[in-house]
Amino acid sequence: MDNPLYRQRAIQLREELVSDYFILWIWDEALGATGKPGQFYEIRALSSMANPQTVHAIPKLFKPISIYDNQGGRIGFMIKKVGPGTKALSRLRAGDTLELIGPCGNGFPLVTGKRILLLSGGIGYPPLWYLQKELINHNQIYWMHGGATGGDVFPCDEIWTEDGSIGRKGRVCDNLRQNILEYNIDTMYSCGPQGLLKNASQISAEMQILHYCSLEAYMACGIGVCHGCAVPIGSKEDWNYRRVCKEGPVFNSAEVMWELI
Ligand SMILES: Cc1cc2nc3c(=O)[nH]c(=O)nc-3n(C[C@H](O)[C@H](O)[C@H](O)COP(=O)(O)OP(=O)(O)OC[C@H]3O[C@@H](n4cnc5c(N)ncnc54)[C@H](O)[C@@H]3O)c2cc1C
Ligand code: FES
Repeated sequence: MDNPLYRQRAIQLREELVSDYFILWIWDEALGATGKPGQFYEIRALSSMANPQTVHAIPKLFKPISIYDNQGGRIGFMIKKVGPGTKALSRLRAGDTLELIGPCGNGFPLVTGKRILLLSGGIGYPPLWYLQKELINHNQIYWMHGGATGGDVFPCDEIWTEDGSIGRKGRVCDNLRQNILEYNIDTMYSCGPQGLLKNASQISAEMQILHYCSLEAYMACGIGVCHGCAVPIGSKEDWNYRRVCKEGPVFNSAEVMWELI
């Protein structure tokens, strides 16, 4: 592949988490210096010619996966097994090879001196973990996270599950208005399923909160070529399609034309 952002790296460590989640760690100091919170890599398990069975088991498409952590080049990807691509990644072990393209996308704008609410749902958690590490020394942060079951939740300030098995029962946006008021929030960052982002955007617009959201569009090429991930961005009078993989995935929620998505 002649893409300058393409590389292969050995997996240093694989961590098993709850349920279907796991973390793959690679080590690359130069890459660590370039990535920022909200950016992602297109990744794929390298098929092994030494083991021809795996060649057919690994899907062709690369999968967009956010940077979960970056400790000076120790880069982590926290992944949920949902389909063939992520299942192939879940079979990788330390010493196996990962194919990567990236870092891709724009990332979250970083602020200072703000009262911040982080809002994540399900697999929206990983990019916000890296984000809170970058924001925590210069801002006050309150983090709400929601998932379908106890298998979809991770450490934060306020946990919601739809089945009530851990934390509060319901959806994470159920208490959003109250928390914005209680913690005097002026800036919000969110990542999660479209329904959550849409709901949160209505609330942030009503309450006039600056809100950056990371969209989870389905991606084919992931590098700006196919336009399959385009979403309408702008105002009613003046909007255009923007590619989630290139101009995004982070947008000011006030500029996302939610009614057209
Ligand atoms: C910018 C970005 C960052 C992401 N970061 C992470 C991450 O850090 N960790 C992680 O586990 N996942 C992340 N995802 C989601 C991940 O890319 C998908 O789960 C993965 O591509 C699914 O591939 P698959 O082959 O395993 O399953 P597929 O067969 O491709 O999909 C399985 C199911 O998930 C749905 N689906 C797949 N991709 C998406 C999507 N992007 N949005 C909504 N529904 C989808 C499909 O419609 C299908 O129902 C991210 C997605 C984007 C766009
Ligand atoms: S996925 Fe092809 S342009 Fe974004």
